[in-house]
Amino acid sequence: METALIIGGTRFIGRHAVEEFLDHGYEVTVFNRGNHDNPFESDDRVAHVQGDRTDDAELAGAAREVEPDVVVDCVAYYPRDVRTACRIFDDVDAYVYISSGSAYGAEVMPKREDETPLCDCTAEQAKDDSHESYGPRKAEGDRAVFAAAEDGVNAMAVRPCIVYGPHDYTERLDFWIDRVRNDDRVVVPGDGTNVWHRAYVEDVASALRVVAEAGDPGEAYNVGDRRMVTLEEMVELIADALDTEVEVVHASERELSIGDLSLDDYVLYRDYPHVLDTNKLAALGWESTPVDEAMQAAVDDHLDSDRDGSEHDPGRENEERVLGVLDTL
Ligand SMILES: NC(=O)c1ccc[n+]([C@@H]2O[C@H](COP(=O)([O-])OP(=O)(O)OC[C@H]3O[C@@H](n4cnc5c(N)ncnc54)[C@H](OP(=O)(O)O)[C@@H]3O)[C@@H](O)[C@H]2O)c1
Repeated sequence: METALIIGGTRFIGRHAVEEFLDHGYEVTVFNRGNHDNPFESDDRVAHVQGDRTDDAELAGAAREVEPDVVVDCVAYYPRDVRTACRIFDDVDAYVYISSGSAYGAEVMPKREDETPLCDCTAEQAKDDSHESYGPRKAEGDRAVFAAAEDGVNAMAVRPCIVYGPHDYTERLDFWIDRVRNDDRVVVPGDGTNVWHRAYVEDVASALRVVAEAGDPGEAYNVGDRRMVTLEEMVELIADALDTEVEVVHASERELSIGDLSLDDYVLYRDYPHVLDTNKLAALGWESTPVDEAMQAAVDDHLDSDRDGSEHDPGRENEERVLGVLDTL
């Protein structure tokens, strides 16, 4: 039986990766600090090794204890993390680093693995922990994967766009589900055609396995829904999953300013479309879940949770002011 070591593994993407590898006959171990609840605590198919991945000796200890065939790295936020892991796991069949669509450094459509430039990363950015340096750090992690592969390590990168689905602790989609659930009229920033490519979490998990099994060392693979949807289509999918109907009200930057709002106040709105080409991954045999099925799972999980996405709420009272004025036009 093949052994998979998931660095992380208890929150969102890693949690689904554990299920994916179990479903495909792997023996699975999760490696984490134990700060977050372990949903697999009473599942005797999933072993747990406690440790901090930023402590090289603890990560090396996990490598010796588990002797994994496959390593999925969910917690590499710094280039140093990737370099260390590539050294420690230099003899595995596959080391898969979760990078990000944020690694791309040019606004083109679509973003392609072997064509679109990545962000540069300065020495300061490589150690910085701000949101602004996230893309540069992820890109430098990709370059560490490419360099390790040159030295014979079976290292690969997977670049997800915005991930959604059950157990999504970012609550980005929860904001929109909550709106559709509680309001008859939903303000959609812009004209509704805005696109920020999203990836269903189970498809990210299957991408990690497919790349581990069939990917080529030194390669990066984008992952995102094969059928991407606009912001307005996303709202409609949510309404269908909730078995309800809502009126979508488009609001331009000028109209939003009536309520002291702007387009960027809306989570999952992005001025320039973010679209990842997923053909390279699909060529390995990966497929994505139909968007209505994926959205149904996300909505069902939202209803079972206490997440409401309120941290992303631009303020309903502000929106009411916009709606009030739009009604008089
Ligand atoms: N969500 C998105 O839209 C998105 C998009 C693109 C890329 N990504 C990438 O996806 C990855 C995050 O995935 P996730 O959070 O969903 O994964 P996850 O593996 O489900 O959860 C994070 C895990 O990491 C563990 N952890 C955190 N710090 C650790 C450390 N220093 N040493 C050992 N374990 C540690 C946490 O447990 P403990 O706290 O108990 O240690 C937890 O198990 C990141 O690499 C992120 O850049 C996410």
